[in-house]
Amino acid sequence: MRKRELRFEVQKEFNSPGLFVGSVVTLSDAAKVMEIPGVTAIRPVKLIPAPQPVKKHIVTGLDDPQIPPDSESTHVLTGVDKLHAEGIFGEGIKIGIIDTGIDFTNPFLGGGFGPGFKVIGGFDFVGDDFSTNTPQPDPNPLDQCNGHGTHVAGIIGADPNNPFNISGVAFKASINAYRIFGCTGVVGDDIIIEALLRGVSDGNDILTMSLGGADGWTESSSSVVSSRIAATGKIVTIAAGNDGSKGSWYTSGPGNAINAISVASLDNTIIPLQNATVHGVAHDPITYFATFPLPINGTLPIFATSNDTTVVDDACNPLPDDTPDLSPFVVIIKRGTCTFVQKLTNVAAKGGQVALIYDNGSGFSDIDVGNFTATLIQEADGDFLVNEFASGAQVSLSFPQSGASFNFPDASGGLISTFTSYGPTNDFFFKPAVAAPGGNILSTFPVPLGTFAVLSGTSMATPFIAGVSALLFSVKGTAPEVGVGARTLFETTAQRIPSSHTDGDPLQTVTQQGAGLVDAFKAIHADVIVSPGELITNDTAHFKSLQTFTVKNVGISSKSFKISHIPAGTALTFQPGTIFPADGPVPLSTSSASIKFSETSFTVHPGQTQEITAHITPPTGLDPTTFPVFSGFIEISNADESYQVSYLGSVGSLKDVQVVDDTDVFFGVNLPVLTDSAGNFLLNATNFTFVGDDFPTVLMRLAFGTPKLLFDLVGPGINLKTTLNKRSDGPPSGTFAQVPTLGSLFEADFQSRNSDVDDGTGFNTLAISSPEFANGTTIPNGAYRILLRALKVTGDPTKEEDFESWLSPVIGINAP
Ligand SMILES: *[C@@H]1O[C@H](CO)[C@@H](O)[C@H](O)[C@H]1NC(C)=O
Ligand SMILES: *[C@@H]1O[C@H](CO)[C@@H](O)[C@H](O)[C@H]1NC(C)=O
Ligand SMILES: *[C@@H]1O[C@H](CO)[C@@H](O)[C@H](O)[C@H]1NC(C)=O
Ligand SMILES: *[C@@H]1O[C@H](CO)[C@@H](O)[C@H](O)[C@H]1NC(C)=O
Ligand SMILES: *[C@@H]1O[C@H](CO)[C@@H](O)[C@H](O)[C@H]1NC(C)=O
Ligand SMILES: *[C@@H]1O[C@H](CO)[C@@H](O)[C@H](O)[C@H]1NC(C)=O
Ligand SMILES: *[C@@H]1O[C@H](CO)[C@@H](O)[C@H](O)[C@H]1NC(C)=O
Ligand SMILES: *[C@@H]1O[C@H](CO)[C@@H](O)[C@H](O)[C@H]1NC(C)=O
Ligand SMILES: *[C@@H]1O[C@H](CO)[C@@H](O)[C@H](O)[C@H]1NC(C)=O
Ligand SMILES: *[C@@H]1O[C@H](CO)[C@@H](O)[C@H](O)[C@H]1NC(C)=O
Repeated sequence: MRKRELRFEVQKEFNSPGLFVGSVVTLSDAAKVMEIPGVTAIRPVKLIPAPQPVKKHIVTGLDDPQIPPDSESTHVLTGVDKLHAEGIFGEGIKIGIIDTGIDFTNPFLGGGFGPGFKVIGGFDFVGDDFSTNTPQPDPNPLDQCNGHGTHVAGIIGADPNNPFNISGVAFKASINAYRIFGCTGVVGDDIIIEALLRGVSDGNDILTMSLGGADGWTESSSSVVSSRIAATGKIVTIAAGNDGSKGSWYTSGPGNAINAISVASLDNTIIPLQNATVHGVAHDPITYFATFPLPINGTLPIFATSNDTTVVDDACNPLPDDTPDLSPFVVIIKRGTCTFVQKLTNVAAKGGQVALIYDNGSGFSDIDVGNFTATLIQEADGDFLVNEFASGAQVSLSFPQSGASFNFPDASGGLISTFTSYGPTNDFFFKPAVAAPGGNILSTFPVPLGTFAVLSGTSMATPFIAGVSALLFSVKGTAPEVGVGARTLFETTAQRIPSSHTDGDPLQTVTQQGAGLVDAFKAIHADVIVSPGELITNDTAHFKSLQTFTVKNVGISSKSFKISHIPAGTALTFQPGTIFPADGPVPLSTSSASIKFSETSFTVHPGQTQEITAHITPPTGLDPTTFPVFSGFIEISNADESYQVSYLGSVGSLKDVQVVDDTDVFFGVNLPVLTDSAGNFLLNATNFTFVGDDFPTVLMRLAFGTPKLLFDLVGPGINLKTTLNKRSDGPPSGTFAQVPTLGSLFEADFQSRNSDVDDGTGFNTLAISSPEFANGTTIPNGAYRILLRALKVTGDPTKEEDFESWLSPVIGINAP
């Protein structure tokens, strides 16, 4: 298809007026397409990786009559148990789950598909074999190869009459399954949008997506469509992301959708684990990290691969020749240096069949042991066993196949999971919005993969909020205003979460906990409506110190309230004195904002509304290079009830934050830099033939997000004053307003910052593999430079001074 001399090919068209009218095209010149009447926005198709639980344990058996330990702890934490006791189960509400599909053959998810079953319908947009290839859609969204969507479905809808005594938050709701991932791999925004629009046209009341990719902006296509759907009164719940270790300004898209509910994860208070019994010496049972008993009969003596409990690389090398046959023993190994599978392979080479690995201080958690019969125990238990063994004591262990399940109290239980991504977005939206249990969650799994599993992630927290949303709709009806008001209701009735269990530590920053842990019972029974739930003062340059909120009494008796300020920790979002964001857990300061209120106490009569003005002053005395983001809560309370409004702002202006990394910290050479195809840095003028691998690549990092990134070709003697890495061989200074560029090589809007991890998010490259402009026109042979420009956050794209800029060395195009 040709139009206006632009090359573009329509791959997919959407026509949902009000939500998304558009097409997916391969296009040549974005700027020219923008000139076509009716085109309002062009957004790149983003690729979203298949959801990866942070932790995963597939349950190995159903045969323990004493099981389970109560995953209902998640329901107790959030008041869902009390709603269930009132007979509220989400009946009549339809929830669309956009995920890897569902194994509806799981008997606890209804055992079938179609009208009359729990999973009433859905669609498979991709097929089993999909990763990045052409999708093979079919009507059946069955997933028996991945499992993620089946776990998500159980958190919403697992039927209670199962041997594990768990239940979904809204297990009488109906589910539509939209499968958008194959067994592995990634999916594009375009397919997410297809599924969202299908979810709307199928009449779902709620759409939930436990997926996303680190973003930092609210503007990806799937974010924008999600937000529009939420604005119509459907509730859209989306994971905040599992990138907590990478620091602030990094929540996921589409979770950043302005009107959606971005969900943070809270660690469950208990982890359902198993005990082993100690024989030969008096000792308490030893808890091991497994949801169900290791399949071991009888009592086995122990054997330690090292008698030294301080060894750092235990069993990382083949065991000594004089090692006995290990088949009769439980082998005890210390964690550290090499992988668990490496250790277990070395033990298996000596006949070992069962092993317990003891912790080295990394933490008691689920570990990857491949298909070996092995798991983790705590460090103190390992030290005990090894010391007994070394002293010659005859110690043995047994693994009761029933009656030994134990609700291990999780040390981080009740805190925000460290993996939860931190906001706010670069455009200062409040993400995540609210938290739900997502760490160590037992739920359903595909039958061929074990029927039940324990998974962790914001993926597990997200369906919990979808389930609570179904309970809300089933009580209040599905009118659009109920859906539109849901996020505010959940936020204003949420439970504030501390940053640690240590007295005196501040509340967790709102940039990671959102408004706190959902309280479903309080939200649904509230007879006071506080609005809005989020007060955003924005950055210093756009500071809105005066904020108002209202308190409406929808009950039947007058209520008196007091207003108080409860600060959260101030997030120090950058490493002091550097241009790099601080990794998570993001350091917190107790220096907080101060707030003055128009009233500090008031009475509201039934049907009346009280307006309150808050005058918010940022904290002082903080290092501005840490770009502090302050946050906290305004509490509206009396002896019987309390509500809250959350607030968020920064000390410092986003426009002052450096966007492009110009340091040598990551590559030993100042960035950006040109490289050849072998990765050698090219600091001087270089000619390229563009034959085979002979072409240049720009290597760069974004220390912070940018709303606009431009790569243009310019003349070699351009008269321009760049802001980054001014070169001694560079041309004399000027401004780029005076020097026209020769043409665009690449342009992208709303780019995420890079992380400091080498996992594909650490840096960007732009390979100029053929001598062509972005629109496909050949660049004539000659000498050029590449001009890179990045707009600062909140910068004005029409102002040169709002861009950072860099000029490459001279590139000679010598194409044959
Ligand atoms: C299952 O949970 C219910 C309450 O939720 C409890 O009364 C019952 O004892 C539990 N059963 C088992 C086997 O734990
Ligand atoms: C499991 O082991 C822990 C730690 O020794 C102990 O406190 C608990 O009582 C045990 N529970 C069972 C059911 O064996
Ligand atoms: C343990 O014993 C039970 C009953 O004797 C038997 O069914 C099961 O297969 C045995 N398991 C193992 C792992 O040996
Ligand atoms: C513990 O083991 C892990 C590998 O599982 C390793 O990364 C870590 O450095 C070790 N910690 C100590 C204190 O030895
Ligand atoms: C265990 O896994 C390895 C590699 O993944 C495989 O080669 C081996 O056959 C498996 N063993 C069993 C008993 O499944
Ligand atoms: C560890 O201690 C046991 C019991 O004293 C002994 O038999 C064994 O040889 C020791 N192992 C090593 C490697 O010293
Ligand atoms: C914060 O201010 C910037 C600059 O005016 C604006 O683009 C952005 O939308 C604001 N954010 C919010 C949440 O209002
Ligand atoms: C670049 O050129 C300068 C002289 O202009 C020379 O000293 C330097 O060695 C060259 N660098 C490389 C990497 O070729
Ligand atoms: C690049 O090619 C031009 C024209 O062929 C030549 O004048 C120049 O010396 C070459 N530069 C380098 C660095 O090889
Ligand atoms: C492609 O871009 C170049 C550089 O801006 C321009 O000279 C050329 O006319 C464009 N070609 C088309 C077909 O628009």
